[in-house]
Amino acid sequence: MTKTAFITGITGQDGAYLAEFLQGKGYAVHGLVRYDAQNDTAHLKNVTLHYGDMTDANNLNAIIKHIKPDEIYNLAALSHVKVSFETPASALDINIQGTLNILEAVRILDMEETTRIYQASSSEMFGTSAPPQNEDTPMHPASPYGASKLAAYWLARTYREAYGLHVSNGILFNHESPMRGEEFVTRKIARAVAEIEAGRLQPLTLGNLNAVRDWGFAGDYVRGMWMMLQQGEPDDYVLATGAAHSVREFVEAAFAYAGITVEWRGQGLEERGVDAASGRTLVEVDPALFRHAEVHHLLGDAAKARAKLGWVPTTNFETLVGMMVNAERGWVRTKEPQWLMAG
Ligand code: GDD
Repeated sequence: MTKTAFITGITGQDGAYLAEFLQGKGYAVHGLVRYDAQNDTAHLKNVTLHYGDMTDANNLNAIIKHIKPDEIYNLAALSHVKVSFETPASALDINIQGTLNILEAVRILDMEETTRIYQASSSEMFGTSAPPQNEDTPMHPASPYGASKLAAYWLARTYREAYGLHVSNGILFNHESPMRGEEFVTRKIARAVAEIEAGRLQPLTLGNLNAVRDWGFAGDYVRGMWMMLQQGEPDDYVLATGAAHSVREFVEAAFAYAGITVEWRGQGLEERGVDAASGRTLVEVDPALFRHAEVHHLLGDAAKARAKLGWVPTTNFETLVGMMVNAERGWVRTKEPQWLMAG
């Protein structure tokens, strides 16, 4: 029998990869989209889209009652850490109340036995806890985003224990792809490298170059989400590559992919990344891009997911960087480059 999946946050990077993955497994895929004239859903082929809002419980109840999903993937969130400092109340609304609305819908509709839930938890919940981080690491979030994800994580666990819901938390470390939003650092760097190759004159501006992240490929991570829901018992799992790099190293690798060696000169706010061959400035630091509090070092230990789910990531750091720069080259070739439109 055809299984039905309902994905909140389907317009994001993970929603796109997950929809495609589930369709490959024969699922009928439904997705929640917030009404927004800017919404680009053209890439979501054969997905049934429903207008809705994570903060509108009646709307979510009606959709879930109507489509009776076997699996719900709760990916919708205000997911940008820096933005969550600017709009903390909406971060909490969407990320906490939104999750609660999904859990409550399944409970109120008596679907505990028939509907499994994946909750998109985040390595940002570990915050300032020392690396490597696994499921037993103490959680010390350092942003409204991290705190909201931690509350949602505990709500999921509470509903699992109190009401027997089959809900699993995927504690995912950073995962990237050519579909990553342009406001996240990896896509921003990849885009700048492709634009500089094509003739852009302004340097790339970045915030904290020394933050360290465990970056994997989103395609691997959506497979892990699905694997969690195929288990007899719900549980919580870290998904990560187990290899970490600094933002600075991502910059170096992305430019190296384009044949450019970056040399770092100066200190602190005066630090610049220059083209070792020509001396031209490629990267500058902009204090406006620093966060009020930073998570310095995330490095995941996914041993549990490997042992219990058989999940292993297939894409290493170098492959990911190359994939992203290459995709941006395509973008630069086919679209009007933004840095020329200004003047
Ligand atoms: N976005 C951004 N832009 N980040 C920058 C910049 C910049 O110009 N310069 C330096 N950084 C640093 C940030 O300070 C952070 O330490 C690191 O680059 C990564 O930032 P993001 O790509 O914005 O991701 P994130 O780690 O904050 O959060 C992402 O990963 C989480 C999982 O760990 C998001 O996808 C979250 O939703 C997700 O939960």
